[in-house]
Amino acid sequence: MKIYPSGKVLGARIVGIDLAQPLADAEFRQILRALGEHGVLCFPNQRLATDAFARFGRLFGELGINVANQFHEPGFPEVMVLSNVITGGKPIGLADAGQGWHTDMSYSKEIALANVLYAVKVPVRDGRPLGDTQFRNMHAAYEDLPAEIKARLNGRTATHDFAKFWDMMRARPGSQRGPLTAEQRAKKPPVSQPIFRPHPITGRAVLYCNPGYATRVDGMPEAESVRLLDFLFEHQAHEKFFYAHAWTEGDVLMWDNVGTVHNAVADYRADEPRYMRRVQVMATKDYARLAA
Ligand code: SIN
Repeated sequence: MKIYPSGKVLGARIVGIDLAQPLADAEFRQILRALGEHGVLCFPNQRLATDAFARFGRLFGELGINVANQFHEPGFPEVMVLSNVITGGKPIGLADAGQGWHTDMSYSKEIALANVLYAVKVPVRDGRPLGDTQFRNMHAAYEDLPAEIKARLNGRTATHDFAKFWDMMRARPGSQRGPLTAEQRAKKPPVSQPIFRPHPITGRAVLYCNPGYATRVDGMPEAESVRLLDFLFEHQAHEKFFYAHAWTEGDVLMWDNVGTVHNAVADYRADEPRYMRRVQVMATKDYARLAA
């Protein structure tokens, strides 16, 4: 197995490993360390059956089952289908997943360590892949914050709400999303998360606050909360923290959900099929020990 860092603010390619085969303990640890160091890992040229894909994700932690997951691979509720493909007049996947800057599961009491996506079908136009996934580095964004903002927000929490992103996507013209049911809302009530938190692998502080789900800074007058959230979201949007992954079919992309925020680019048409399998790996292990 060889790891080639992108040389950018995030990203590495890992070659010489077949994720369909069991991983040696040393390989698992190396991948975990690389996740902390590079944030976004691409394993190109993989051929993975759904069970092998889920097994790879599960090595890193329990797999989440999305609260609004009506689209999953048959028999695998933990493997979500993200796709614009329509079969027999019916969508087979969530077509607009992640189309806005966010961090998966920040709305959940138990946060997610990583997302893992497997590219089954990638839209290509004029030889160029479409539907990039974009990232921003939240280790770097934290380090670059002005000292007075770090001091003002140190020890503070923000409220994160699953419904914020859902309702934002639903309000977009042509959205296929229905309203969240009372049961879905009750399963994912708003939660408070520290705005700065130690990263579970690196132990370094990250800015853990994303525009998709964070609704307010807790215990602050509304106007100040709005001003500070606006500041944080503008700060993390700086070009120097940005990285994009252009997909090739067979890519497995694993990204750090604590130290990055991400956005799925919707630059392809309904007749340009995209099909991704996704698992969300919950942060259920002692990663600092495993990566040591
Ligand atoms: C996600 O937010 O997990 C989806 C990303 C993508 O489909 O590119």
